[in-house]
Amino acid sequence: MAVNLLLGLQWGDEGKGKIVDVLTSKYDIIARFQGGPNAGHTLEFDGIKHVLHTIPSGIFHKNAINVVGNGVVIDPVIFKKELDNLDKYNIDYQSKLLISRKAHIILPTHRILDAASETAKGKAKIGSTLKGIGPTYMDKTGRNGLRIGDLELDNWKEKYRNLANKHESMIAFYNVDIQYDLPELEKEFFEAIKVLKSLTFIDSEEYLQQAQNDGKSILAEGAQGSLLDIDFGTYPFVTSSNTTAAGACTGLGVAPNKIKEVFGIFKAYTTRVGSGPFPTELFDETGERMAKIGNEFGATTGRPRRCGWLDLVVLKYAVQINGVTQLMMMKGDVLSGFDKLKVCTKYNYKGKEIDYLPFSIEEENVTPIYDEVEGWEEDLTKMTSEDQFPENLKKYIKYIEDFIGVPIKVVSVGPDRKQTILR
Ligand code: GDP
Ligand code: IMO
Ligand code: MG
Repeated sequence: MAVNLLLGLQWGDEGKGKIVDVLTSKYDIIARFQGGPNAGHTLEFDGIKHVLHTIPSGIFHKNAINVVGNGVVIDPVIFKKELDNLDKYNIDYQSKLLISRKAHIILPTHRILDAASETAKGKAKIGSTLKGIGPTYMDKTGRNGLRIGDLELDNWKEKYRNLANKHESMIAFYNVDIQYDLPELEKEFFEAIKVLKSLTFIDSEEYLQQAQNDGKSILAEGAQGSLLDIDFGTYPFVTSSNTTAAGACTGLGVAPNKIKEVFGIFKAYTTRVGSGPFPTELFDETGERMAKIGNEFGATTGRPRRCGWLDLVVLKYAVQINGVTQLMMMKGDVLSGFDKLKVCTKYNYKGKEIDYLPFSIEEENVTPIYDEVEGWEEDLTKMTSEDQFPENLKKYIKYIEDFIGVPIKVVSVGPDRKQTILR
């Protein structure tokens, strides 16, 4: 059986968690391949909203196995909180949650380093979620990191101490005013490690290979979005991992030729949380209305998300980089009631019209060029089939499909599991 891959095509928060949950019944294994608790994946069913940060979004289904892959960075403290939440709903995670021995661990000092780095940047800050993601991936590539598999060794605390000591000198080097109580943070960290150690650690690349040999189906769940990719995103305003398709290969040990479908998720408009360029951003009441109706607040930090029109230049770029085979359009319901909708089809880049993503999409270089389409009035949230869609929504869908050249196979019309229309 093949491995399918699901990832975000914009700046994150496209609705990945919701769709992974919807698709889980078709898969044996759901596997996260990168990122960490900077992610906030929201699932809604039976009137309850759940937010997952590190645990794959298949966890609420009875039979699926959920794997946290080697490319993920894990904060034991946040992981424990996620488990505590699952306990409230009697989810039996012990039997179906497996963690890669090669996944790296976020130390309390990684979080402090994140805060120190952001404070030192002043106005140029990334707008990080401050979960220690950047510093942990820096230690990974710098070959200093502490991994899940290390927790099985007798000397792991020594390794921990060496790394934490190094971090303390780095924090001092930043010379910024950040208050923290390390002994208190460590107490919480060591308690959480105990809980983490009660779970099953695996050699996940071997496990996933065996699963493929046994004909099991695997869905790889991306975090963040393609424009936050460390290589292909709006650098430096990005996260520290490869959020694009290649990240699934390195983050799980799955070979590129084993990946079959690539599901690309996008919002019917665009949002971004944190700093960095966003050509179609709206600063007027249209943007405010999207934010209000779309309830655009970060699932991890609660920060308001910036909103704007759909950017097809961005979408086309992300589809290309990822080899997307099917599109999924989320939050179309939020656009009901707009007389006209704008879609960005080109950029004016330093005085020239271009239709690709250039080196810099900063405001001083890029002005979006829009096409305008008719909006629709109807409330979509109770619709259960495409036949009920207003004509102008059908036209909007067709417009995007024609522009990108990839079919939209799922249209989401609300946050609930049930508000999902397959085409
Ligand atoms: P993720 O990070 O990609 O999993 O997305 P988030 O969970 O951070 O953000 C998506 C938000 O939109 C969540 O609050 C979802 O409950 C909500 N959502 C998902 N799909 C839809 C939809 O089709 N319509 C509306 N109105 N909300 C949606
Ligand atoms: P999900 O998986 C939206 C953004 C942050 C910041 C930048 C770097 O829920 O889509 P980091 O904490 O990685 O140092 O932050 O990336 N960011 C996200 N934005 N959704 C996410 O994840 C994000 N994860 C990180 O806001 O701009
Ligand atoms: Mg999110």
